[in-house]
Order: sequence, then C-alpha cells, then structure tokens
Amino acid sequence: MTETLIQQHLQAELDESRWLLPVYAHTPVEPMRGDGVMVTTRDGRELIDFYGGHAVAILGYRHPRVLAALARQAEELFFQSNSVPLAVRARAAERLVRFGPQGLTRAFFVNSGAEANENALRIAFRHTRRSRVVALEGAFHGRTAAAGALTWKNERWYGFPRPPFDVTIVPRKDVDALRAALGSDVAAFIIEPIQGQAGAVDFGAEYLAAARELTRAAGALLIFDEVQCGMGRTGHPFAAQAYGVTPDILTTAKGLAGGFPAGAVLVSDAAAGLQHGDLGATFGGGPMACALIETVIDIIESGDLLPRVRALSALIRETCQVGPVTGVQGDGFLLGLKTSRPGREIVNELLEKGILAGTAGDPNIVRLLPPLILEESHVAALAKALAEIRP
Ligand SMILES: Cc1ncc(COP(=O)(O)O)c(C=O)c1O
Repeated sequence: MTETLIQQHLQAELDESRWLLPVYAHTPVEPMRGDGVMVTTRDGRELIDFYGGHAVAILGYRHPRVLAALARQAEELFFQSNSVPLAVRARAAERLVRFGPQGLTRAFFVNSGAEANENALRIAFRHTRRSRVVALEGAFHGRTAAAGALTWKNERWYGFPRPPFDVTIVPRKDVDALRAALGSDVAAFIIEPIQGQAGAVDFGAEYLAAARELTRAAGALLIFDEVQCGMGRTGHPFAAQAYGVTPDILTTAKGLAGGFPAGAVLVSDAAAGLQHGDLGATFGGGPMACALIETVIDIIESGDLLPRVRALSALIRETCQVGPVTGVQGDGFLLGLKTSRPGREIVNELLEKGILAGTAGDPNIVRLLPPLILEESHVAALAKALAEIRP
C-alpha cells in the first residue's frame, strides 16, 4: 500500500471512529465517486468494482435511468406511507411479481434483507401454527432476532438471551439430514439457493428439488432467501427460476432498488392468507424505493443483461483459474474463487492492482459480486491481475 493511501485511509478511519460505533473492519480504500463499474478513490485511483458494495450496486454507479427515476420521483412525491395507496407502489409490486417465479403472486415491501426474512418467518409461523424452523450450516440470513437465530455461527454477535423460536441446523446438501429434521413441528425450511456469505456455495437443482418435495410432504413452507443471489445475479431473475424450483416464500433485498434501501417478500396465494394489520413497515414500499425497483427490473429486462451475466460468468470460470485460483464455485455473478492462500491476502493484492473484490466466511475464498453491467474488458483485467499474483 502506498504511503498516501495509508495516510488517507487512516484519516478517514480516524474521522469515522470518533463518531461511530467501532463495529466494522474496513477495506483500506475510500471511494469518492462511482461510474459504471468503476470506483474512484480519494487518492485518484480507478478500481474495477467486482464487489458491488456487497452485491447492492447491481447496475453499478450513475446509471442514467436510475438517476432519472430518482430525480423524477423525488420531484413528484418523496414519501407517503402505506396508509395510502400509491400507483408507483402498485407498479413496482406488479413488476416484481411478474419478474419472480410463477406461483408467487403477492409482494410485501420492507427495507432490508433481515427484515424481509423476519416477515417471511412470521408468515410461515402464522400459516402453519408450528414452532420450529430448519436452517443450514453456513447460512447467513441477517442480524435481527429471528433472522440472526437462523444464521450459522452467530454466537459471536447474536446478543439476544435466546432465539425467539426452536431452530434446527442441518448440514449442507444432506437430503437425509433434512428429511430427519422436518418433524411435524416445523413451520419452514429456509435456504439461500447459493449461500453468499459462506463463499458462493451453490446447492444445485437436485438438492433444491428434494427440499421442495420434503417440505411439501412435511407440511412445512420452503423459504428461499435470495437477498444476495436474487435480482438477476444468477443470470436468471431469481435462483428459483435458474434451478426450476418454486418456494412458498422468496425474500430479496440488496440490489432490488439498485442501491436505495429496499427489501421484499414474495408469497404464494397458498401461504398468504393475511389480513389488515398482520404485517407493516413505515418505510417499506415508499415511493422512492418503488420507483427504483420498477426501473431496475425494467433495465435488467430491456437491456438483456441476464444472458450477458451467464456468458461473462462462464468467461470468468474459463479465464480466471490462474495464479492463486484453484477453482470456482457459485453461479452467475455470485462467484467464489477458491484460493491456494488466504482470500484476504489475495483481496489485498488485487486491490493493489486496481480490483475491488471481497472475502467470505470460508477463509480460502475470494468473493465476486460485480454489477450486472460488467464487460469482457473487466474480466480480462481480473484474469491478468490474478495471473500476476503468486500462487
Ligand atoms: C443471504 C442474505 N440474507 C440476508 C441478509 C441480510 O440483509 P441486510 O443486511 O439487508 O439485513 C444478507 C446480507 O448480507 C444476505 O446475504
């Protein structure tokens, strides 16, 4: 790291540490500006953003249509709550339901991934009147009381005296263990079809189909947490469509509104059965978020981004298994590069070469979550940088 970079990083650290709780470890860069998939740092370096602000910058930065939608909606109506109907909210819900897998017919808007999961679980408990949830080793579902209770290795940060319901954690990709766990008290099985935080661990169509069968037979709901892997990241609208398996409930957030805070729960008619007052959120479904949800989906569909994601994902697999990279897991633009040395070292070395990437729960993974507008030239730059890094 150059001396100026260290100084600037330290200065920003110092400024933040004076006023904020010290709960985040920082990557040593200070982004000042973003354009397309490029981020410019305070010391004027141009980085290719293969991390997308933790999967949120799904269309990169300064997308002209996103900026126009933001300005137009802000001018028209900045906020109204769910106590009034809004045309923009109805349009966003219709667009999202049509973008989602067939069979999920209603949307509920919230503000974040954890909140989406929290509400999905509430719907499952109400629907089944049961008290247990089955989740997976390696899972990350968020940090609130319910979502956090289902998150793997939460002991370090959970903080609540006890989980709010019974939880069974099962090993990954073990159909027999899932079958055994699905007792008559189980309300839901929750799964990220591709585990993000774990390092892009892909469950595949066969396991997901088995989970669909087993939950149905047990009278439990199947919840797909697509907070990280949804919104086109697999090269399909959601992993549900990529693998041909429709859950009873699907949650999404992160890239949903292109960087504006938003989350959503998609629910089948069968699982819904809700009435006035059963769920709620002040900011959920606000006009700004809804205008952006509508626009993001429109850009993904009209820009033909999904076939490009699939093609460029294949190109990454083909060309980036060089230098310290020994394999690739995941799907689409949620990829884990398996590394011969700790992923943290490789991320730091990539940063020196102008590429922003991320680590994962697995210490030997470098995680890639680039914007869907990535181009061939960016993949070539990543392959070149990796080839120059010692194995
Ligand atoms: C799969 C998954 N679920 C839920 C969450 C929580 O989302 P949020 O941080 O928006 O609450 C995350 C965040 O990383 C996630 O990756």
